[in-house]
Amino acid sequence: MAKIAVLGYGVVGSGTVEVFYKSKENLEKKAGEPLDIKYILDVREFPDSPYADKFVKDFDVILNDPEVSVVSEVIGGIDPAYGFVRSALMAGKSVVTSNKELVAVKGAELLKIAKEKNVNFFFEASVGGGIPIIKPIHACLEANEIDEIAGILNGTTNFILTKMIRDGMGFEEALKIAQELGYAERNPAADVEGTDACRKICILASLAFGKHVYPESVHTEGITKVTLQDVEYIDSCDSKIKLIGCARREDSGEISIGVFPAVIRNESQLAGVNDVFNAILVRGDATGDVVFYGKGAGKLPTASAVVSDIVSAVKHSDTSRSLTWSDSEQSFIRPFEKFTCAHYIRLSSDNIKAAESEVAALFGEVEYLSSKNRPENELAFITKVIPENDAQNACEKLSQSAKIMGRLRVLDY
Ligand code: HSE
Repeated sequence: MAKIAVLGYGVVGSGTVEVFYKSKENLEKKAGEPLDIKYILDVREFPDSPYADKFVKDFDVILNDPEVSVVSEVIGGIDPAYGFVRSALMAGKSVVTSNKELVAVKGAELLKIAKEKNVNFFFEASVGGGIPIIKPIHACLEANEIDEIAGILNGTTNFILTKMIRDGMGFEEALKIAQELGYAERNPAADVEGTDACRKICILASLAFGKHVYPESVHTEGITKVTLQDVEYIDSCDSKIKLIGCARREDSGEISIGVFPAVIRNESQLAGVNDVFNAILVRGDATGDVVFYGKGAGKLPTASAVVSDIVSAVKHSDTSRSLTWSDSEQSFIRPFEKFTCAHYIRLSSDNIKAAESEVAALFGEVEYLSSKNRPENELAFITKVIPENDAQNACEKLSQSAKIMGRLRVLDY
């Protein structure tokens, strides 16, 4: 019998216990042996829970119990999760986690310990909620060189943008609904400022390109500056605004990587991804584009990935099937000022004719956009593909005579 401990009884932890007991018989068939959750670690009291007898407050009870072979960490954040996970791996227990911050920041180190101790460290739930993406990249796309990954990686912001686009709903109201539905992080700033999507693209890029990509080396912008005016202009050119995390391998071997709200043409498979759904496009040299789609947040979808990892960890308990990537150095990441794409720019000016001439001088030919509510003193346009640095410098020059009201990158997926 394999005994499991669940660390944390929040949204994902309670979902993990629920999914586990709902499917226990089936899971045991798949694991090839009886399974049970022996402990649930939480600092809070749950006297009315049907699992009340399993709750413990002291992690050492779990660590020192040789019967526990798999620890499921669903607390989130670095402390105390990192210490618990590290100690569990060092003690020869496999760990599965939904904790994207932990994997994005400490993944290389924890994978190394897992390898040394011949145990597993799995983290399917850390990216894309219920969407299988980690195992498919690791195991099913192995025959490919992955050139690029781009995804809608945060359910909360996709939910908010969908409400803005479809219903003209304001940002705050949409965020409140996302929080009520249990999609948002404890501190929703991590969602709306792009930090959560940044952690997820770091994990995917580390996996795809074989070296750890640290969050601090990724240019990250959230959706707080996206306005309903921008949404309207972008709608007029048959496109949508989506928060995208993307990573591409350059010819030099460097990785270009970023998280930002981007304009996506309606014909792209990513443009039709709405509400809490996530989608991840993986561009392999043999497969071409493969898109993974599903619910990227929420209790049961995320718990589904955690429980599946628990079963895998039990099934492969005598061998380390963990993925690996090596640690890396900063030169692996291409400076973001060299990132190339087209740009959407919205400006206001008291002298529109002069602004148009300056736009032509700075950007050459551009595509002007219309909007039914366009004020007379406003221009919105899309440039050709240029490096980030050029776009930045041109906007600085423009802002001497006009006010830049919005700028978004335009991606071609
Ligand atoms: N807050 C995250 C999201 C949860 O909205 O996608 C899943 O990682």
